[in-house]
Formats: sequence, C-alpha cells, structure tokens
Amino acid sequence: MAAATATAALAPGQAVRVEEVGYVEAPIRAFAIATAFWGVVGFLMGVLIATQLAFPLLNMDLEWTTFGRLRPVHTSAVIFAFGGNALIGTSLFVVQRTCRARLFGGADAGWFLFWGYQFFIVMAALGYVLGITQGKEYAEPEWYVDIWLTIVWVAYLVVFGGTIIKREEPHIYVANWFYLAFIITIAMLHIGNNISIPVSLGSSHSYSAPAGVQGAMIQWWYGHNAVGFFLTAGFLGMMYYFIPKQADRPVYSYRLSIVHFWTLIFLYIWAGPHHLHYTALPDWAQVLGMVFSVMLWMPSWGGMINGLMTLSGAWDKLRTDASLRFSVTAVGFYGMSTFEGPVMSIRAVNGLSHYTDWTIGHVHSGAMGWVGFITFGALYYLFPVLWKKKAMWSEKLIAWHFWLATLGIVFYITAMWVSGIMQGLMWRAYDELGFLQYSFVETVAAMHPYYVIRALGGVLYLAGGLIMVFNLWKTVTSSPALTLEPAAASAIAVAAE
Ligand code: HEM
Ligand code: HEM
Repeated sequence: MAAATATAALAPGQAVRVEEVGYVEAPIRAFAIATAFWGVVGFLMGVLIATQLAFPLLNMDLEWTTFGRLRPVHTSAVIFAFGGNALIGTSLFVVQRTCRARLFGGADAGWFLFWGYQFFIVMAALGYVLGITQGKEYAEPEWYVDIWLTIVWVAYLVVFGGTIIKREEPHIYVANWFYLAFIITIAMLHIGNNISIPVSLGSSHSYSAPAGVQGAMIQWWYGHNAVGFFLTAGFLGMMYYFIPKQADRPVYSYRLSIVHFWTLIFLYIWAGPHHLHYTALPDWAQVLGMVFSVMLWMPSWGGMINGLMTLSGAWDKLRTDASLRFSVTAVGFYGMSTFEGPVMSIRAVNGLSHYTDWTIGHVHSGAMGWVGFITFGALYYLFPVLWKKKAMWSEKLIAWHFWLATLGIVFYITAMWVSGIMQGLMWRAYDELGFLQYSFVETVAAMHPYYVIRALGGVLYLAGGLIMVFNLWKTVTSSPALTLEPAAASAIAVAAE
C-alpha cells in the first residue's frame, strides 16, 4: 500500500490550525465533560451495588434503592452514559480531523445529538429506579425510551456519514470504519431486539414480540453484539486514532488494521449463542456460537498486536507520558479479555463459569481495563486540545489515577476469578452418596470476603476517577491557553507497506 497520510499534506509533527477548517468543537467539549461526569456516577453506582452484595443492609429496605433496580443503573451508566458519550464525542472529533471536514449539520446537529442523548440517559435511569423495565439485560428501557433513542441514533448516523461524504481527504481513515460499524450495527441491534407491543394504549410497559427461546436468542444476539460493537468496535476506533497521536507514530500495520476490521465484524455477529449454552437453544446453534467465539480470538489479538506495536520506537514515552500508559494498558486488557472470552465460550468451560462471578471478572477486565482505560487516555489527550491548553494540568495526578485504577482492577478481577471458580466448583461438588456437598447459602457465605475485596477495588477505581475529574477541571480553568494543537501529535500517518 502506498505511503499516505490520513490528514492530507500534513507531516507528523506539523501543527494544524484548527480555525482553518472550522471544526465544530463546542458540543464535543460537552460530550467530553459528560463522559467524565457519567463515568464518576457509574463508578459510584458500581461501588454502591458492590457494597450491597457484601453488606445487604445497604439495600436500605426501599424498593428504589434495591440491588435489582440499581444494578441496571450501574450497567447503563457505565456502558451507555460513560461509554456512549465517549464514543459519540470522540467519533465526532475524529471524523472531522481525519476527513478534514466540518461536521455535517454544523454545531446545531452536534448539540441535538448531545442533548438528545443525555435525555435518553436520564429517561432510562428514571425508569429503572421506578421499576419501569422490559427486563432484557442492557436493553432495559421501555418502548417510549427506545423510540427516542432511535431518533437520536439515526441523526447520529446522518451527521457522521454526512461528514465522511463531504470529506476533503480521499482516504477514509480506519478509525472511521470502526466507528461506522459501531453506529450501523447498534442501530440494527437496537431495533431488532426492541420490537414490542405496549400492554395497552398509554401504558409504559410492553410485551416483547419474540418470546421463549427465540426471544432469548435475539436478546443475546443483541447482548453479545452490544459487547462487540459498542464496547469493542467503537473503542477500537478510539485506539486507532489516539494511540498513533499520543505515540506520534503511524499505525504499525495499516493492512492489518483493515484485516482486523473485516474479520472482527464478520465473526462477532455469530457468537451470541455462547450466552445460551445448555439451554433450550438447539445444540447446533450453541456450537456455532462457540466456534465463532474461538475464531474471534485471532482478529482480536491481531488488533491488540497492531495497537501495541504502534509504539515501536516510542516505548520510552511510557515512562514520561502517563496518558499513553492508560491507552497502552487498555490494549493489554483488551488482549486479556479477548483471550478469556473465547475460553469461556467453550461449552465445557462455560459449564463451570456460567452464572458465577467468573463472568463478572471477565466483564470487568474488559470494561474497567479496556473500555475505561482507553477512554481515560483519550480524555487526557482531548481536554488540552479542545480547551487549547499546552498540556494537562498535572502529569503526576494522571500517574496517581493510573496506579490507583490499575490496583483497583487487580483487586476486582482477581477477587472475582477466585470467588467465581470457587462458586462453580462448590455448586457441582458431590459427596460419596451423590448428594450436593454444599447448600446454596454456604456458597454465598464463602464469597463474602471476595465481595469485600471487590468493593475495595471499586473504591480505588472511583478514587482514580475523582482525581481525573479534578485534573481535567484544573486543566480547563488554570493552565495557559494556546491556539495550536500539540505539535508532537498533529497527524495520523498511514504506514507505508
Ligand atoms: C468502580 C468500578 C466498578 C464497580 C465497583 C463495579 C461493580 C459492579 C457490580 C457489583 C456488578 C454486579 C455484579 C453481579 O451482579 O454479581 C457489576 C456489573 C456490571 N458492570 Fe460494573 N463495576 C465497576 C465498573 C464498571 C465499568 C467501568 C463498566 C463498563 C464500562 C462496568 C460494566 C458492568 C457490566 C456490563 C455489568 C453486568 C455484568 C454481567 O451481567 O455479567 N462496570 N459491576
Ligand atoms: C473475543 C472476544 C470475547 C469473547 C469470545 C467473549 C465471550 C464471552 C463469554 C463466553 C461470556 C460468558 C457468557 C455466559 O456464560 O453467560 C461473556 C460474557 C460477557 N462478556 Fe465477553 N467475550 C469477549 C470479549 C469481551 C470484551 C472485550 C468485553 C468488554 C469490553 C466483554 C464483555 C462481556 C460482558 C459484559 C459479558 C456478560 C454478559 C452478561 O451475561 O450479562 N467480553 N463473554
């Protein structure tokens, strides 16, 4: 492939005058603030429900504050509010810079997306606390919230796609491919999994159109691809833009990034049945899900290697640039969770791991390590650029955030692995007469110490998040202003192969 730069005539190291293209930035600044805000809210809810599991008294005997209602508040806050704002905000930033084009629809379109999306989040969260839910994991909001999100999402596709169409740059940089796959697939999944009929005219509740095993299959086609396209593809778009920027190096292999893209989107879509092993779903469908999950390991690791090797020749930056450390560690966690996932999808392994905390450990190595860390890295890059500052207010505080959050994840996931595997083994232990060796309550009691350690890990992760918010705030308000983007990271160069 011929040498090219995705930002036209810009050579690495050359500065871009933002005002020349007139990028839309104000709504992106709002998305960046919302990401940090909802992140802290989501982590706080995580700590609260983790503590409730360790000390049930904290359910407070009120229906609104029970674990059952607050759990989806946590999952939606971290996935859709923290992750969603990060994805939409960064995608609007990246698409303009790599296409050298002003946002399609201008600032008004950006503001519609921002406020429309926040309204969706607030409506969804209110519903959970009040007990209005369709009871599908990660798709809890009822029909009226779903319709609103569809409107916002279609507008998002038009704005993003419109910007690509009016681009000045002939090449569509790979990050945009990942973002586009995320936007289109989420639209398809959201509509496919939310076809339902309101119980009566004016009712906030609804019946799902597919029922029984078909309903479960569609739900986990949705659920797994929410992982694949929301928690993975979109964040890979972030990886392919921000790591080369932070390292000031081209993507290690541009060809590999394209192979990564096509294999990932082709394989992910089939893997959903691994959530339904040993259920009424036909065996052939379960095996299909397992085989595609195992195959997914290859593109996932290809992408991880591509992300890590982008640092070739720039590894020394890890010593001095704490925000790059976040992004690179994120890629490490991506590799770890995408190794663990295929292993857990093997039916024999899933027979042990399913329903246990092992799944929760897997989720959080992906969620806190990959999704969280790649977002923190992007925020530390974006804030100085968006507010025209020379650098973040304090490198030292970024380092504190990094170590606290890393320690928090280590506490969290190791506690869950131990408790999950122990839980699975206790459930299936028989005595010599063939009776179950442990009663259910004994397994619950055995997990208590690990639940306390997990909550402690959550507190560390939350503390890191609060430090980040303080540092971002100080960056916006205190450091001297600049008019140029950081010179060391102004162009995405596509590797000559
Ligand atoms: C302070 C950090 C966090 C803490 C303490 C925390 C805690 C928890 C707890 C206690 C649960 C419920 C587990 C159960 O039902 O047994 C949970 C579930 C979940 N959390 Fe977190 N969490 C944190 C951060 C995150 C982040 C950053 C994300 C995503 C970006 C995330 C995504 C999820 C998901 C997807 C589930 C559902 C898992 C499943 O059903 O298998 N969490 N979390
Ligand atoms: C090659 C990639 C991956 C594969 C094959 C995979 C596979 C799996 C498997 C087999 C389960 C357990 C299903 C069950 O027993 O119910 C699972 C659960 C889960 N994984 Fe992964 N995983 C992968 C990557 C990831 C990543 C990168 C993330 C997060 C960013 C993630 C998030 C989740 C979540 C949220 C669940 C829990 C779903 C639920 O039951 O609520 N996975 N995954």
